[in-house]
Amino acid sequence: MQLDDILQGDPALLYMERYVDEGTRTYSPFAAKSEVGAEYQPRSSRPSFDLVTVVAPRARVALFQAGPQRDLLEFYVQPEEVRFLIHPETWASPGIDNLDVLRTFRRGEPVQVAPTASTRTVYTTATPGTVPAHFIKLHYPRRISRFNRRLRLKNIRNSIEATRDLEHVRFERFAYLPDSLGCTCGGDGNPWGFLVRERIPRPVQEARFLIPCFALYGGDLRDPQNLPLLTQMIERLGADPQAFVIEEIMLPVLECWARVVRERGILLESHAQNVLLEVDQDFRPLRVVHRDFDVWVDDKARKNAGLQDLGASISADSPYPREQHYSLVYDHFIGREFFGYLLQVLTRFYAASEREVRNRIAEAFHEYFPDADEFFPSATTYYFSNELLPGNDFKLVDMKQAPEWR
Ligand SMILES: Nc1ncnc2c1ncn2[C@@H]1O[C@H](COP(=O)(O)OP(=O)(O)O)[C@@H](O)[C@H]1O
Ligand SMILES: [Mg+2]
Repeated sequence: MQLDDILQGDPALLYMERYVDEGTRTYSPFAAKSEVGAEYQPRSSRPSFDLVTVVAPRARVALFQAGPQRDLLEFYVQPEEVRFLIHPETWASPGIDNLDVLRTFRRGEPVQVAPTASTRTVYTTATPGTVPAHFIKLHYPRRISRFNRRLRLKNIRNSIEATRDLEHVRFERFAYLPDSLGCTCGGDGNPWGFLVRERIPRPVQEARFLIPCFALYGGDLRDPQNLPLLTQMIERLGADPQAFVIEEIMLPVLECWARVVRERGILLESHAQNVLLEVDQDFRPLRVVHRDFDVWVDDKARKNAGLQDLGASISADSPYPREQHYSLVYDHFIGREFFGYLLQVLTRFYAASEREVRNRIAEAFHEYFPDADEFFPSATTYYFSNELLPGNDFKLVDMKQAPEWR
């Protein structure tokens, strides 16, 4: 992909989601694995597919809202009925709970979509009238990378609550794609459903362009001789490569993450698939746009800040102490699985100093977290164990490695 293609807007965003991720999923033995049918994988050549729609009576679903844009809300929710979306592979799979109930409802017009890099979150490729293009996150009980991608009531509620909370974050480099509408069906059992994620980052600004962060350093599957977009940006802007990556990408990502966790106790999983770089028409970075809010919450930090409980709290819902969660997210998701790849571009294409980059980030980390010892394990990091457990259980283990980014 060429840098100028980004100015096409949506088609470019979708192209990056699907095809500019060569070499990006090497951070764990499971990162490149997927049990999803080939035609629904992001890398497939199929331009789009249809989601199954059933029209559910309003009384049979539960709705969750975080200020959805009006045309979107009206597209999904009518006084008597709700448009309920199901991934076609989920619809066709045997043994999925609640499908028998959904099958009793009338079928609606299908919604045409294409997969994004996460696979279970898709992007509309056609919408009627004034309905804006949007993302839809789906219940997809198949393993994609490490986890089985179910989307249960608790995931949906968690995402909507976190979206509402993020409205309070005020930082000029911070933006987010709101999970603004959620819907579940299934009364007594364990309901599942879908989330609508808006395409326009909040706080709303004039139109700008989005680059999923893995596409900054990922190879282009369809045009492998292209240089990484990050390299193209550096050349175009005539920027100093090391200073550009530090000042315009790493530090804003770190500062957004530190502010949100310190002010609101929300551990945003700011890995390269969950953050996008917002740029202007000259490819100057403006904001870090965050997505995916089914996240862990540090309830102690919220209490200290005088805030109400929110979603999945570490002390109530996790068997692991909070410093292990902080380490998982910062040392691994952000440090190794994102900054590590940016650093590789710097050392591969330019004479950057690995030591200088790490030192600068570690220094900034301690500025933002003067009391880091209270939140992080001091001399080691924690990550998932190398085994797959049933029921999406996971084990965090001591990696016995010194932290590389703090
Ligand atoms: N470069 C990438 N880095 C991280 N995750 C990626 C990348 N490309 C694709 N993914 C996929 O995005 C998802 C990231 O996990 P997560 O954000 O927890 O889930 P989801 O986006 O489905 O809610 C995984 O399914 C992973 O395989
Ligand atoms: Mg994600």
